[in-house]
Amino acid sequence: MKRFIVVGHKAATSGDFKLDDMAGGAGRLDILLRCINSALFLSHSIRRDTEIYLVLQGEPNPPRTIRVNGSEVRYLNPDERSTGALVRNALLKELDDEEIRSSPGIYVSKRSFVQVLDDLAPVSRLVYLKEDGKDVREQAMDGDLTFVLSDHQDLTESEEAELIARDPLTVTLGPLSYHADHCITVMLNELDRRG
Ligand SMILES: C[S@@+](CC[C@H](N)C(=O)[O-])C[C@H]1O[C@@H](n2cnc3c(N)ncnc32)[C@H](O)[C@@H]1O
Repeated sequence: MKRFIVVGHKAATSGDFKLDDMAGGAGRLDILLRCINSALFLSHSIRRDTEIYLVLQGEPNPPRTIRVNGSEVRYLNPDERSTGALVRNALLKELDDEEIRSSPGIYVSKRSFVQVLDDLAPVSRLVYLKEDGKDVREQAMDGDLTFVLSDHQDLTESEEAELIARDPLTVTLGPLSYHADHCITVMLNELDRRG
């Protein structure tokens, strides 16, 4: 299984945003929607062995975690607007302490970044995607992998400390700072090439 956790520091946590304003009023939700696209879409199919967690930390109800599971997801199309509508529907659900299914393969919960790390660290090797990490081409990795990355801002000091405390590999994809969705594409391509 390949998983991605993307932290959206300002991303909307209620469903009352406009689909025309996902880069503005929805707190750069557009970045996270492109991450869903990069994690799950192949040219003519879906990566069924991949899952993405979006940890939304903007107002008014932080945190909210959207989980999109490639083996179950339906009604997902490559355009940002329709994916935004699926995420908005998830954010409109009434929540208690349990994760609930919003639509096939799309789940929503009140989990925080730390709770998501706690859930995944026992079952998956964490990999921190970071500009100054070890070159991915020199880093062996296999088995169940969970890649952690941030949105247009870096992880905060406390988020980074929580991640480092769980002993991740720290890996760079190249000499420049790339968009989060591009990092996902490059990382999956690297894994595809390793077979
Ligand atoms: C747009 S970058 C974050 C903002 C950027 N650090 C800045 O403030 O200039 C989004 C995320 O992609 C990941 N990332 C970007 N470039 C990377 C690289 N060369 N190697 C590994 N991860 C990278 C990191 O997780 C980063 O937080």
